[in-house]
Amino acid sequence: MSLLGDVINNVDDVALTADEIRHLLSSVDIICPTVTDKFDAEIFSGLQVRTKLLANFGVGFNHINLTAAAAAEIAVTNTPGVLTESTAELALTLLLMCARRTGEGERHVRSGAWSGWRPTHMLSTQVTGKTLGIVGMGRIGSALARKAHHGLGMRILYSSRSMADESLVRELRAERVELDALLARADFVSLHCPATPQTKHLISTEAFSLMQSHAHLINTARGDIVDEAALVQALGKGAIAGAGIDVYENEPELAGGLQELEQAVLLPHMGSGTLETRQAMGMRALANVEAFLAGEPLPDLL
Ligand code: 8YV
Repeated sequence: MSLLGDVINNVDDVALTADEIRHLLSSVDIICPTVTDKFDAEIFSGLQVRTKLLANFGVGFNHINLTAAAAAEIAVTNTPGVLTESTAELALTLLLMCARRTGEGERHVRSGAWSGWRPTHMLSTQVTGKTLGIVGMGRIGSALARKAHHGLGMRILYSSRSMADESLVRELRAERVELDALLARADFVSLHCPATPQTKHLISTEAFSLMQSHAHLINTARGDIVDEAALVQALGKGAIAGAGIDVYENEPELAGGLQELEQAVLLPHMGSGTLETRQAMGMRALANVEAFLAGEPLPDLL
């Protein structure tokens, strides 16, 4: 028993099965899911639902069907804001790793294959002064734009449903362009849009054909936004030079062939994975739980 009530912990940190989720929905008042717990429409059907709040631990909520949750009279909240800087840091890490071939370099040293310095050894691409195209200029896209522009002198292009904040645009001298133009002009393309039916496979064979052959794709948003099989093909035939990927279509599975590509930097969905941020995410989810229990407006109601 905690101050707020009885708490059941997922002590092994493992994804809940559909049966476990159904059991919880019919037996507890509040659930704090993570990205691995799938609340699709079918999960609610035929259930006597007791749950009134899904206080999601994370900002992305494409694993929760909001329409079905609303039909079951369940409120859904998320944790915006607190993971912005950590996720933008990881996007920048991937960008630098791709450009400077640091994953490859590290593997080279560890394998014992390094035979010493040579003038032409493992040549890579300088990042400073290059053009970064940001798809989705929300909180995380904007944070990355600031770091890339002020830290690395990058020119910022962005495509977004809405205009970015005016003062930010001025500060960064950012240019809003259509997605096709962004893909064609950017040296690095970083994805920061939400995963929705409209953005599913936004980056597919056609998008890769628009990108420059020296360009790199960075994805810290959601796997579904990229057609992963098309990414493997694009990298394989040199349509783009590299990719830095933190999120996948079927985590933790990877599309066939991806793992073998040296020019892909592959991380295990760790964008928000700093201690500071994970604690802040927990506190933010808790703030929603507390508001719910006090009958107050939910701070992060979706
Ligand atoms: C989280 C994320 O680690 O918040 C998000 O949308 O993708 C990640 O940063 C994950 O969602 C936790 O549930």
